[in-house]
Amino acid sequence: MSHVPSTDRRHVLSAVAWPYANGPRHIGHVAGFGVPSDVFSRYMRMAGHDVLMVSGSDEHGTPILIAADEAGLSPQELVDRNHRLIVEDLVGLGCSYDLYTRTTTRNHHAVVQELFAGVYENGYFVERTTYGAISPSTGRTLPDRYIEGTCPICGYDGARGDQCDNCGNQLDPQDLIDPRSKINGETPEFIETQHFFLDLPALAEALGAWLDEREATGLWRPNVIRFSQNILAEIQPRAMTRDIDWGIAVPLDGWRENPTKKLYVWFDAVIGYLSASIEWARRSAAEGGDPDAWRAWWNDPEALSYYFMGKDNITFHSQIWPAELLAYNGKGSKGGTPHAYGELNLPTEVVSSEFLTMEGKKFSSSRKIVIYVRDLLSRYQPDAFRYFVAAAGPETNDADFTWAEFVRRTNDELVAAWGNLVNRTATLIAKNFGELPAAGELAEADRVVLELVESTFGTVGDLIGRHRQKQAIGEAMRAVGEVNRYVSETEPWKLAKDPEARERLGTVLHVMAQCVTDLNLILAPFLPFSANQIDLVLGGKGEVAPMPRIDEVGDLDGGPGYPIITGDYTGAPGWERTPIVPGTPVGKPTPVFRKLDVTVIEEELARLEG
Ligand code: MF3
Ligand code: ZN
Repeated sequence: MSHVPSTDRRHVLSAVAWPYANGPRHIGHVAGFGVPSDVFSRYMRMAGHDVLMVSGSDEHGTPILIAADEAGLSPQELVDRNHRLIVEDLVGLGCSYDLYTRTTTRNHHAVVQELFAGVYENGYFVERTTYGAISPSTGRTLPDRYIEGTCPICGYDGARGDQCDNCGNQLDPQDLIDPRSKINGETPEFIETQHFFLDLPALAEALGAWLDEREATGLWRPNVIRFSQNILAEIQPRAMTRDIDWGIAVPLDGWRENPTKKLYVWFDAVIGYLSASIEWARRSAAEGGDPDAWRAWWNDPEALSYYFMGKDNITFHSQIWPAELLAYNGKGSKGGTPHAYGELNLPTEVVSSEFLTMEGKKFSSSRKIVIYVRDLLSRYQPDAFRYFVAAAGPETNDADFTWAEFVRRTNDELVAAWGNLVNRTATLIAKNFGELPAAGELAEADRVVLELVESTFGTVGDLIGRHRQKQAIGEAMRAVGEVNRYVSETEPWKLAKDPEARERLGTVLHVMAQCVTDLNLILAPFLPFSANQIDLVLGGKGEVAPMPRIDEVGDLDGGPGYPIITGDYTGAPGWERTPIVPGTPVGKPTPVFRKLDVTVIEEELARLEG
């Protein structure tokens, strides 16, 4: 199926940030990690690579406990509910995960503990006495995020105990100036407690060498590489355990049994990329696959790995996770040897997007400046949203979602340019031939437009491969515009009235159908739902963009069952022109895209205020 020469064909890991299961996801979240990772993965499959796209719900940690408290549920009940909602949302958006799982599986716990054991035996954990915050009035431990104060680095007043959202630095709560509890405003008391710290300074040199090598590729976005190199200068050991009773146990005697010591998200969710790959291979083994198949993406140095996230996650992926991998591999200043999983690959590229705002403001569920994925999908076509994100999303700069712009992009670009071309083509063919006509002799204009569209595969593919999706969809839409111009110039509706011009009409409609078919493949990574509908309109099977599905599965190691996202994406067509087959029946089309009434803008704005 692949048209990529076998030497260029690679194992490509699409590692997508794990959303917190503390509530439903809004469109700002999925604009950052969801749509870009899916566009990239779909394209890479069409280009013939072996893509493994993995992620899952991040179900441990303080945000979950806070949400569970508020909802009056146990943490497990809360994440069960939210995991299912998130799974449905991501499938609704067409995100083609090979496996979307969760962090509460037994497999994930075991993989995390194996990583811990490897890092521990290689000597990259240091045990330290630190201060933990407790609430003087209740005696309960106060998680970092419950503490607020002034950032010691930039002076911002609303810094959290774990991180300052203003300057992006990771913090420890006792560093805050004037710390206070977010729950009741009281000043927390700091008591002594034992924790494991990842010895980041012992890994700094190896991290620096890796970043230099990555920088030399020239592929990383400049802001991401610069940020990553800057934070390296201030590197400190980081706590990998927390005083919390919800999470993964520390696999050491004396710790394992302690109900209030768990691994921190930095040594939990990020390891999900690996544990999900392993789970995927173990699940495929049940159907005759190889339980070790994950190794092709993790142990082979020729494999590529791309990590997709919003910018608040850069530190996780360009410092903490690679440091853990280096520590496990035994590649820091303390030496060591790889453990059971062998030498694991570091990220090829950390593809971070910027932030999306909503009507000029930061998303905020509490202040109702929000639209949840599920609400958007209940009223609009997923591809209209995917189009907006690709064309106007926060790829390298913060971007604003406004309802006015959403309506304008949908109506003036998607419907007026692309939808209209598809519709005109199919209507003219249905009316005049009832099937795809054969081409007669090609005129110069026919050749020019066919060549232009065919060359668009190369241009757009190259841009998606380099994570320039905005430019990529711009090029695809520019080609759509050229084909529309060709149609206006050849005026097939006039040819249709002239019996003498029947052959010429057939040729023009053939050229139009070929161009639409090509552009439909080129747009398929961005607009998978409509790609299938358009394929049907032109007499195809409607399977050019394979879709994910939800499976209810049992836990592989005896835990409770859960829903996953998976799919069979092997049927994706190649990234190249497929000649259309004259004689294929084409009926009267139903429009693929829905034009939006401008009243939608006011309705949605009223909802925001409501
Ligand atoms: N759930 C966390 C967040 O959304 C971390 C996601 S990235 C991962 O910020 F690497 F930890 F999975
Ligand atoms: Zn700060």
